[in-house]
Amino acid sequence: MKTLIKNGTVITASDTYKADVLIEDEKIVLIGINLPAEGAEVIDAEGLLLMPGGIDAHTHLDMPFGGTTTADDFYTGQRAAAFGGTTTHVDFALQQKGKTLKHGVEMWQAKAKGKTVIDYGFHIAITDPTEESINEISSLGELGVSSLKVFQAYKGAFMVDDTALFKAMEKARDADILLMTHSENGDAIALLTEKLVSEGKLAPKYHLDAHPREIEGSATARAIAMAAVTGAKLYVVHMSCSDSIEQMAMGRAKGYNVMGETCTQYMFKFEDDMKVPGFEGAKWACGPPVRTPDDAEYIWESLRDTTLQTVATDHCSFNYEGGVNGKGPGKELGKEGWHKIPNGIPGIEDRMPVMYHNGVNAGRISLNRFVAITSTNVARAMGMYPRKGTIAAGSDADIVLWDPKKKHTISAKTHHMNVDYNAYEGMEITGKPVRTIIRGTTVVDGDKFCVEKGFGKFIKRKGPQIV
Ligand code: URP
Ligand code: ZN
Ligand code: ZN
Repeated sequence: MKTLIKNGTVITASDTYKADVLIEDEKIVLIGINLPAEGAEVIDAEGLLLMPGGIDAHTHLDMPFGGTTTADDFYTGQRAAAFGGTTTHVDFALQQKGKTLKHGVEMWQAKAKGKTVIDYGFHIAITDPTEESINEISSLGELGVSSLKVFQAYKGAFMVDDTALFKAMEKARDADILLMTHSENGDAIALLTEKLVSEGKLAPKYHLDAHPREIEGSATARAIAMAAVTGAKLYVVHMSCSDSIEQMAMGRAKGYNVMGETCTQYMFKFEDDMKVPGFEGAKWACGPPVRTPDDAEYIWESLRDTTLQTVATDHCSFNYEGGVNGKGPGKELGKEGWHKIPNGIPGIEDRMPVMYHNGVNAGRISLNRFVAITSTNVARAMGMYPRKGTIAAGSDADIVLWDPKKKHTISAKTHHMNVDYNAYEGMEITGKPVRTIIRGTTVVDGDKFCVEKGFGKFIKRKGPQIV
């Protein structure tokens, strides 16, 4: 099967140029001027940008968490991602206590099976760091898994101590596995939580008091120091504020193998959104928490100056009004106390358009930087480059046809995510995907969804790069 995309403007992390792109089966085979259309289906992309499909390195689909399960499964989450121009994601498989890492990956493979409509991979989160589990890091490569998450938070659930983190880093270094940390201080959070709850401070806004910015900063510093000593490749996930990003800047300036990810919501949702009267603030409960407009500006600057290298979503959807009309339990679980609110914010569909409009259109980042932070750098860090993350001969034909003039108002009424609210409700954006192509197949064409469940492929990853 041949497809020729004519007259579009190709955007990569480094270049912008007008060219035709020839796809044969699943791959890009030729990029050139006035390529012959013989035997090919022709797509006219006049006036459109051709960008590598978005890659979201941080999602939680069908994940048991906070006394319930995330509202999007692999079908609804991936379908929504495709409408937003994301063609690949890496989801977090969780090790079950007493079980192997391999078992965790297999569990998540079973959740995805028969439901996938975009390409995907798995990180494994180590939650039971026995000697056997730590040793197992050496064989993750055989599962096509090149990244391991370690929680420095969620005491009593996922958190591991510094001994385990240090040992995991040593193994990850030897096995060339990217070590990802959720950097907050779980001990401090547990103590603060206990105190706030015992004082009857139960409204959503107290979530902020239990997750101070300083402990995100110091936990990040701890992880970076251990990466420096062990030589592990470190990727700090969901960085929310200047306290942690300053530590990242320092680590990178010293030449350590470290890099950082932020998430879209940290540029648009703030502490004040959690402080509104009533329960509405529960929508924005996540860890680390949303911070301040000054932090958002700091994040934009850090994305520009390469202190931060990727933007993900941490898509972790819970309905605001769950437990009714066939919906599983959601944020309402925390009505009796903020500490019972399931943590997470949805956004897998919105990342690309929101970052494009507020980044590129607003003059905060260039088009090429947009591609770098939403796709190319992610592919490199996750061990998928150059198969994914660029438009080049030999790469998978994952291409988003982007109309830079198309206007759209984001709303839960029209989004495709299986959740009853949207973090960017009412945001008027200009520029969005009009066609999403994955491995040469059109997955979304305008409002039409074009593939069957099972289309999405598991991508075996190896060789993570610190960007
Ligand atoms: O609040 C969050 N971030 N929920 C998802 C779990 C995690 O820590 O990434
Ligand atoms: Zn986390
Ligand atoms: Zn997460």
